[in-house]
Amino acid sequence: MAAILGLGCYVPERVMTNDEWSARLDTSDEWITMRTGIKERRFAADGQATLDLATEAASSALDDAGLGPDEIGEIIVATDTPEVVTPDTASLLQHRLGCGTIPTYDLGGSGCAGFLQALDVGRARIAFASRRILVVGVELLSRVLSWDDRSTIVLFGDGAGAVVLGPEPGRAHVLDVVTYTDGSRSDILTIPTGGTRHPFGAEALAAGTHQQLIMNGPEVFREAVRRMGRSVTEVLDRIGRCVDDVDLVIPHQANRRIIDAVGRDLGVPEDRVFVNVDRYGNTGSASVPIALTEACRQHVIGRGDLVVLTAFGAGFHWAAAALQF
Ligand code: ACO
Repeated sequence: MAAILGLGCYVPERVMTNDEWSARLDTSDEWITMRTGIKERRFAADGQATLDLATEAASSALDDAGLGPDEIGEIIVATDTPEVVTPDTASLLQHRLGCGTIPTYDLGGSGCAGFLQALDVGRARIAFASRRILVVGVELLSRVLSWDDRSTIVLFGDGAGAVVLGPEPGRAHVLDVVTYTDGSRSDILTIPTGGTRHPFGAEALAAGTHQQLIMNGPEVFREAVRRMGRSVTEVLDRIGRCVDDVDLVIPHQANRRIIDAVGRDLGVPEDRVFVNVDRYGNTGSASVPIALTEACRQHVIGRGDLVVLTAFGAGFHWAAAALQF
């Protein structure tokens, strides 16, 4: 069985408030707060890129685990906003951390569900190869989205979170993970430009599609609530536990109303649902590991607690993981 040996996270220093968006766009603190619960988010500084954020989170997870880079056997980075197109951010991270020639790979395109998918792959690799695996979720969406599109840019923030997984006992056992994909719903959330179908180029630049996130907000909202709730129930069924046994649910931090709806549907009291979307907005694949790290650091999670993580993202992907601390 895989265990989490250490956790860490990093958010850039620059705070971008709703009032700053109101000064630039036709929006307001009231609209953003009412619709999303977001008050502020962090944006990377000009000189920072994905690898910088990932390195900070990974180093903090290694410190927390009391391990050096030479004690890691594999790296998986979940991101939709890589440092460069090729090679993978994980290989750059391997070199920056000084991990030696261990295998690395990125899990890209899964949006905010990427970290939980990577956690699932990581635990499967541990069962097979019995090595320690660094799993990172990192996103720098402020660099790739249009700052002129009020319907998307105000929702997101930059950040990174990481866990060290290992075959030995640690802070928390990964009891089980469920992951799903419904590719027929890929149209409700997509960044279409930059691939081979619609390459970056003069045409995209002229049309303004080079920084476009297409999102059917209400549909994403509905799918997110339905899918996250069901995946939580399912992962609990698989480990023979029920919602009443859960000490803390940590949902993907996309929108306070989505988080509240998932808690309500599951019948979990508000104080057992972790929320930090007000401070960071939606940090994509970094959202769940940032929230998990903060919940540990704030001692919201105690020894013996059963914690369930859940996320959804472009794909459409969704997942849940049960952890025993
Ligand atoms: N400020 C003011 N008005 C705005 C803004 C803004 N920032 N953004 C959109 N609007 C306007 C729209 O133009 C539209 O106006 P219209 O009715 O005149 O056309 C109106 O507000 C839209 O209102 P609603 O449809 O009622 O908005 P809704 O309550 O659905 O909230 C939101 C929109 C916040 C996007 C919501 O649908 C949502 O959170 N959906 C889920 C999105 C999500 O979680 N995405 C994350 C996925 S990320 C990932 O996986 C990578």
